[in-house]
Amino acid sequence: MTENIKWWQKAVVYQVYPRSFQDADGDGIGDLKGIEQRLDYIEKLGADVIWLNPIYSSPDKDNGYDISNYEDINVKFGNMLDFDRLLAKAHDKNIKIVMDLVVNHTSDQHDWFIESRSSKDNDKRDFYIWRDPVNGHEPNNWGSFFSGPAWKFDEKTGQYYLHLFVEGQPDLNWKNSEVRQAVFDMMNFWVDKGIDGFRMDVISLISKPDGLPDGEVPDGGKYGNSDKAVANGPHVHEYLQEMRQQVLNRADMMTVGEASGVDIPNAIKYANSDSSELNMVFQFEHMGLDNNPNPALGKWYDKKVSLISLKENLSKWQNELTDKAWNSLYWDNHDQPRAVSRYGNDSEEYRVISAKMVATLLHFMQGTPYVYQGEEIGMTNAYNLQREDFDDVEIKNAFKYLIDKDHLVDEDTMLKYVHAKGRDNARTPMQWDSTENAGFTTGKPWIKLNANFKKINVSQALADPDSVFYYYQKLIKLRHELAIITTGKYQLLDPDDAQIYAYRRVGKDEQLLVINNFTMQTIDRDYDVPAGAEILISNYNDDAGRSLRPYEAKVYRFANN
Ligand code: GLC
Repeated sequence: MTENIKWWQKAVVYQVYPRSFQDADGDGIGDLKGIEQRLDYIEKLGADVIWLNPIYSSPDKDNGYDISNYEDINVKFGNMLDFDRLLAKAHDKNIKIVMDLVVNHTSDQHDWFIESRSSKDNDKRDFYIWRDPVNGHEPNNWGSFFSGPAWKFDEKTGQYYLHLFVEGQPDLNWKNSEVRQAVFDMMNFWVDKGIDGFRMDVISLISKPDGLPDGEVPDGGKYGNSDKAVANGPHVHEYLQEMRQQVLNRADMMTVGEASGVDIPNAIKYANSDSSELNMVFQFEHMGLDNNPNPALGKWYDKKVSLISLKENLSKWQNELTDKAWNSLYWDNHDQPRAVSRYGNDSEEYRVISAKMVATLLHFMQGTPYVYQGEEIGMTNAYNLQREDFDDVEIKNAFKYLIDKDHLVDEDTMLKYVHAKGRDNARTPMQWDSTENAGFTTGKPWIKLNANFKKINVSQALADPDSVFYYYQKLIKLRHELAIITTGKYQLLDPDDAQIYAYRRVGKDEQLLVINNFTMQTIDRDYDVPAGAEILISNYNDDAGRSLRPYEAKVYRFANN
């Protein structure tokens, strides 16, 4: 690919989790005005796009992913005027804003659901998925993604409703054309405001399989695996094509679908190059490689991923989407632990160097990279949070079901797993400086800070020319300047090397050789580097040739011969 590069194929996205970014009014919760105050910082980093996690009205059962009014702003974050001003100010700086779109489910406090639940013959009854009990139990064996059953019995009408996430997140019935129309109208409200795109929450789950059949129950598990049973349902592509016609074609937007359970053939459909559906998806396979070997425990585990399986997986996505669809590139987001802790080494000695290595590996791949707030300063997992400190409903439910109810694991082990994988690792407040509450708020923060904020913070990073921040800044600049990072063909080297991840990006006239040492040892390796090759970027200040130092990352650039 060389011609017809779309703007979002050269862009780098910066994800802002508003609740934890910057609090401007001292209530302990980040807000829109706070983001506005920090736009200069995002501009300095060089990101092209901000993805905002949900900012709509919500009872916050799942931190804003349970929306009670799609066309209004959560009062905790401000109001619509604050949003309009933020959008205008971002646009003044040539930064685009992509909104989170959460339409697999609403909140149980949304008017549609309040009506739907009021009686069996209400107009909105069929907006959600209601079923009679089967033998006095749930209609099928589906489990919620956040532990426990995916059905809730509603006394008033004697039926169950489906909630693939928490009880306060009833699933919409996309089979109903009125639901689709209501969603498209709402999206058009935001398009008319001039937003630049949508990140679509769990969009691979909107079309449920006909007849809602039971899912396979993993060994030792209690419920059917909803991902396998529900993802990529029979009508999902049709619904997205309809959305494309009714909404997405109205402006030159960027769309990324969060697609749990997506495989390559489906990703190629969702993100096909002819743009009949979305521009790209977030796939989850690489996020599942360090899952617990006991499927009943799912993601809850604390062992590091094997480099060989990571290479195999990321290379598959690089190779098989080439010229057919577009990748998104991410390690971190509000649902994942911190990249440096997960893939690098967050000890004092190696944090900075390994955070840069982990970044190098991802940022030279083909796709659109996403940087999650704090990743660019090497923020780490929050090991100081204890059971009573966690806010996340997924973590709380895991304690409740997996320990207290199902006895699958003991509390100490679970705490280790949460420190490795829990979502609150990403949700502790952004660490701006070493003053009280890390400069995040003058009030009481809604969630505990990571105890290491005095050492790891933006003001420290900006003062140090060797910081992780300036390395990310350079990675972003290189992507903007060198077409080969967007267009070059990916070629993995040495798939069986368990210590070094090396690959090439090959263009018409030149190529890049990207080398990453995943270990804290010095390792010798010979790569075919022509004399005179330029080092484009490295996390060490000199080149030791074939000797690769702990967590060393370097990228050579040279002409094809
Ligand atoms: C997505 C979001 C996550 C949320 C879930 C349910 O996975 O990223 O934060 O809890 O969907 O909406």
